[in-house]
This record gives sequence, C-alpha cells and structure tokens, in this order.
Amino acid sequence: MTKEHLASPPSVDSFGVYIHVPFCHKKCDYCAFATWADKHSLVDDYMAALRADIGRAVDRGLPIVDTVFVGGGTPTIVDADALASCIEVLPLARGAEVTVECNPDDVTLTLMQRYSQAGVNRISMGVQSMRPSVLSALGRTHDVKHVNEAVKSVRAAGIEGLNLDLIYGAHGETLDDWLATLHEAVELSPTHISAYALTVEAGTPLALDASRHPDDDDLADKYLIAEDVLTAAGMANYEISNWSVPGFECRHNMIYWRQGDYVGFGCAAHSHEKGRRWWNLRTPERYIHAVHAGESTEAAGETLDDGTRRRERLELLLRMRDGIEARHVPVADLNGLVEVHDGMARLTVQGRLLANEVSLKIIP
Ligand SMILES: C[S@@+](CC[C@H](N)C(=O)[O-])C[C@H]1O[C@@H](n2cnc3c(N)ncnc32)[C@H](O)[C@@H]1O
Ligand code: SF4
Repeated sequence: MTKEHLASPPSVDSFGVYIHVPFCHKKCDYCAFATWADKHSLVDDYMAALRADIGRAVDRGLPIVDTVFVGGGTPTIVDADALASCIEVLPLARGAEVTVECNPDDVTLTLMQRYSQAGVNRISMGVQSMRPSVLSALGRTHDVKHVNEAVKSVRAAGIEGLNLDLIYGAHGETLDDWLATLHEAVELSPTHISAYALTVEAGTPLALDASRHPDDDDLADKYLIAEDVLTAAGMANYEISNWSVPGFECRHNMIYWRQGDYVGFGCAAHSHEKGRRWWNLRTPERYIHAVHAGESTEAAGETLDDGTRRRERLELLLRMRDGIEARHVPVADLNGLVEVHDGMARLTVQGRLLANEVSLKIIP
C-alpha cells in the first residue's frame, strides 16, 4: 500500500463496510456502545456468523468496497485469522482504506503483521490519555507503556495510517494533564487524532455519578488547547473532533458525514443506502441465531423524506472543514461563530464549540 493510495481523497460515491465486534475485556463505565465483557463464550460462534453473513452478501453482489472499518467493542480480542477472513472475503477497491480499532494492551507485532497481510492499512488506537491518573479515572485496562509499544508494532508491521483516539474531561484531569497527553500523542507521529469530550451517556454507570460529570467550561478550554497543539503540530481540523495530517482524513467517516452508502455487518451495526437506513439486532445472541436460521439480521429501519435528508446533510457538512453554502446560515446573527469564504459558511473555532446551537439556525 503506497502513501498515495491511503492518502487519496474519497470519491463522492465511495462505498463503505462497517464490521462490529461486540466484545471487551472490561466494560468502561462511560461507554454506551453495544459491547459486552461477559459474553466471551460467544466469540467463536459470533465470528463464524459474521464471516457467513459477509460471505452471503458478497455472493449476492456487494459493490466494490472503498473503505472498511472494523470497530467495537474491541476487535483485537478475537482471533486474528477469524477477523482477517471477514476482510479478505470483501471485494476491495485498489487502495481501499481498511481500519481496525485496537486497544493498546492487545497489540502485538504478530497481530499487526496478520492484519497487514489481510489488507489493513490503518489502525485506530484507543489511547484516551497519556497520564496514568487519567487512565485510571477512566477505568482503562492499559498503561502508557502499552501505547508506546503498540505504536512501535504498528510501524514495524508497515501499517501506515494511525489514528489515536483521545478523551478529555475525565474526573480529576487538569489542563496540564490534557496538554501533556496531546504533546505525547503528537510525539508518536500519528497521521490522525480524534479528540472526544467525555460524554455522559444515558444508562451508563457514569450517568448515575454526577460528581464525575465533566464541566462545560473545562471541556471548552480543553478543546481550544487541542486545536492549538494539533494545529501547531501540522495537523488540520477537518471535522469538529477530528484532526489529520493533510491527506490522511478518515475516508470511512467521510462516507458517513457525506450521507454516502455503507453496509454494517454484525450486531447493532448500522447501514445506509440512498436515504434508507437500518440497524441490526442489538445482541450477539440474536445476530448469531438470525444468521444460522438464514433470517434477516435487520432489527428496524426508516426511509428519510427529502426534507429531513437535506437538513441532516447540512448539519453534517456544517461540522466539517468545508462547511455549507452561506445562504443556509444567518451569518450576521451568529456573532463570530461562522465565517464566509468563497460563498461557503464555515464554523470558526468558537463556532465549533457551539456547533449544536449553530445547527439550530440552519435555513434548509
Ligand atoms: C467504541 S470505542 C472502541 C475502541 C476501543 N474499544 C477503545 O475504547 O479504545 C471508540 C472510541 O469511542 C470513544 N468513546 C466511547 N465512549 C465515549 C464517551 N462516553 N465519551 C467520549 N468518547 C467516547 C473512545 O475514545 C473510544 O476510543
Ligand atoms: S474498551 Fe472501548 S468499546 Fe469497550 S467498553 Fe471501553 S470504550 Fe467501550
């Protein structure tokens, strides 16, 4: 895989595949994703069902795949060959972007070499913080040494794309902790960094403990620090929570944000095709059962009317670097939150902090 391949811009009609692995070593108390730490006995059956489901879709005539994202949960938990076989069966386009989400404490050189052999050219690593006290406040299972070792393994296996996921706003995290995390993350020379404000998700243990909820002013300060440090390091913000070395934007996520078509395999995975979206059965048990029985794995779906689709398109694009046509935004009322260049309205850094409020003012 050459640099030109991975860094090539996504075409507007790119097609993506998402593969969900719903298992974790330990459930983080802030996480609301469909993933379980007490269902490891299902892993083999689940991977067999996933492989069968993907194989059938390929046999029915899956379009050529431009991007693959294997996410979770913790994909690094499952057998590397079983995961590789789910990727290897896909009709990949030349230069397809193939990402696997990894937890740092699972990454070994052997694992990365097997992924690379299967066509994986991008790793998204759940680093979250480079401060031991913050990792412990988040209840993570890895330490900073694991991150450094994991990055070496990714590089030694020749995998070029590297995203580091960071979270800011954990209980007790100081501005200096966050600054140190950003500097140490940048020193690892990733091609991409996602920095997420810790979100209190309904139904999680974190939601029940108000004493650990993040403070909005602290989150805003940390967002501005991220923008300064990452920009100074040569990365550019291209979506509110995402920065990349130019040319290394996540092509898979760009498909989501541009309302492109994608299909999701595995439990709880979402799909979209030309305004119709649907989502799969939420639990691995029900997904495995449906695949074995030859039944649909879809739980429910909806078709968006044109107005809703147009509005969602504008909301998604507003969050991105290029913004939306200025006629859709009452710029004069928004007091420095958006700026206009060449007829396009784009969020300023302050506007990015208040993107939801700006979205409410969109004129479809
Ligand atoms: C679903 S996880 C999968 C990756 C991997 N299991 C991990 O946690 O490192 C993907 C990313 O979502 C982010 N995330 C999950 N829950 C979050 C929350 N409540 N607030 C902010 N970010 C969150 C984390 O940064 C995480 O790396
Ligand atoms: S390891 Fe990742 S997917 Fe698993 S519970 Fe924690 S945040 Fe969620």
